[in-house]
Amino acid sequence: MTWHTARTFRRAEELCVTGTESAGRRIDTSRPHPARVYDWFLGGKDNYPVDEELGRAITAQGDAPRQARANRRFMERATRVVVREAGIRQFLDIGSGIPTEPNLHQIAQSAVPDARIVYVDNDPIVLAHAAALLHGTPEGATHYLQADAREPQRILQGASAVLDFEQPVALSLVALLHFISDEDGAQELVDTLVGALAPGSCLVLSALTADFDPERVHAGIAAYTASGVTLVARSHDEVSRLFKGLEVLEPGIVSLSRWRPDAREEGDPVSLYGAVGIKR
Ligand SMILES: C[S@@+](CC[C@H](N)C(=O)[O-])C[C@H]1O[C@@H](n2cnc3c(N)ncnc32)[C@H](O)[C@@H]1O
Repeated sequence: MTWHTARTFRRAEELCVTGTESAGRRIDTSRPHPARVYDWFLGGKDNYPVDEELGRAITAQGDAPRQARANRRFMERATRVVVREAGIRQFLDIGSGIPTEPNLHQIAQSAVPDARIVYVDNDPIVLAHAAALLHGTPEGATHYLQADAREPQRILQGASAVLDFEQPVALSLVALLHFISDEDGAQELVDTLVGALAPGSCLVLSALTADFDPERVHAGIAAYTASGVTLVARSHDEVSRLFKGLEVLEPGIVSLSRWRPDAREEGDPVSLYGAVGIKR
């Protein structure tokens, strides 16, 4: 686990790009990585031919770029809701992804300039672009932590340097958990993270489901699996279990394109559930 602030970032980026640090920090361009495939779906430039190849294979099975854009918009709406309805000022965003505007801190700090945000991801390409995540308001704080979601205690320990866990925090696990199977501890990591949050905190979560369009989603999972990337779809019941003990805000656990939609969310339901739960 490594901290990056604006000051330390330049050195970290150099290490990452030149590959002189440990293998775990090198950008492996020989196989696709979730953050880079997602970047390709979003029309970004921070991906390699292997990522584009998998992105195209998945897009041939369904409209993954539309789903990725809808997921970003869910993150935007949910972030505004937790600021407005739950009065949240602190954010722990795990699986933050390659910066894509508007980033979570830009949404939160445009509503509350003193908002504090810790971003976490385990992909070296996110680290290589993390500088864009560190340009927040002078009143607030934005920090980046290179860590694996499957080590929640280490994340909590690191994030506590920036976030006050005695006060409410919005834990954002947006489009992360379908890369972590139950066998790999998805439920335990949610339980550990939510267990550390103060009353009034929120869980903002989106996760892949095959409930709406099973054939296409299973074809997409097969394409990811063939490329060596774990991808799991969860049923409504399975996503509900991730919210156990939390009060789920209206409209509940629904396709994220049906979660407090604006005019842009038209058409068939997107194959990700989205919801926000509050810890009372
Ligand atoms: C689909 S992207 C989602 C990005 C962003 N949260 C969003 O919704 O727009 C998933 C992100 O989760 C990260 N990720 C996957 N497995 C992870 C793990 N075990 N620990 C930390 N990050 C992980 C990937 O590197 C990628 O950046």
